[in-house]
Amino acid sequence: MANQPAAPTHQPVQLRGDYSHAAADYTVDQDWERYTPAEHEIWRTLYARQIRMIERYAAPEFIEGTRRLNAAPDRIPDLEATNRILEPASGWRMVAVPGLIPEDQFFAHLAHRRFPVTVWIRKPQELDYLVEPDIFHDFFGHVPLLTNPSFAKFMEAYGLAGPKAIAAGGLKMLSRLYWYMVEFGLIRTPQGLRAYGSGILSSKGETAYCIESPKPNRLAFDLERVLRTDYLIDDYQQTYFVIDSFEQLFRAAYDTDFEPLYRQFAATRGIEPGVVLPTDRPVRDQNDESGLPQKRLKKD
Ligand SMILES: [Fe+2]
Repeated sequence: MANQPAAPTHQPVQLRGDYSHAAADYTVDQDWERYTPAEHEIWRTLYARQIRMIERYAAPEFIEGTRRLNAAPDRIPDLEATNRILEPASGWRMVAVPGLIPEDQFFAHLAHRRFPVTVWIRKPQELDYLVEPDIFHDFFGHVPLLTNPSFAKFMEAYGLAGPKAIAAGGLKMLSRLYWYMVEFGLIRTPQGLRAYGSGILSSKGETAYCIESPKPNRLAFDLERVLRTDYLIDDYQQTYFVIDSFEQLFRAAYDTDFEPLYRQFAATRGIEPGVVLPTDRPVRDQNDESGLPQKRLKKD
């Protein structure tokens, strides 16, 4: 039995999962038979509206991954059944967990190409906002891109980087990389900017906002800049970072020695989420005809 972890968020929240039957690595049986018709109905609602959004706003690699996983639109996925598709395709498998798990366990799973997926689904009144990730966020938002070889390598490298960050006092900096590039990342495509972050693509509102709204900053990805930038957990992002390719993201993380960066910046104040620095490179969607530079040196 595992102890209930402290949530790795900046808010003291009472975790809602049942940790009483979790193994030492925080895995549980999904116990798929226990989902009620009402819970499958919540999945159906979320899936139907989000599958339409991703066709318009998601990276092609994400859409392709969603197709390959072939999840049923009308019922919560059986993780073991989907693992029979995911594992041969990517070397990754999903493991069921009760909810958020401690960072060291999370890193260990990723380093072994296991992606933790929360077993419970949100309530009907939480369709648009949820404090903790549920199975819709974890499965629909995260798992499709694990079928992309470069992104899969990045996620494994992230897991391997975890213990080193903990040892070097760099956990907060490393978690910003996950936040901005796994949860809220954008990518350039020949068709214009597209979203691939799971926090975006499991949220109806932010999926359109991150691409369409003139309000947020969209800055070219720079590893050091991301590691130094604070983030918001309870509102749409004020800044999104844009990669050119998943291989760029993997190479930046894999080829960089993070320890000197932790030494230099871990004790310094983070850059505020809405700020644009003179050294930043704003990215304009090629479909944006305004011709105006994005706002600089200014907070929302
Ligand atoms: Fe997530």
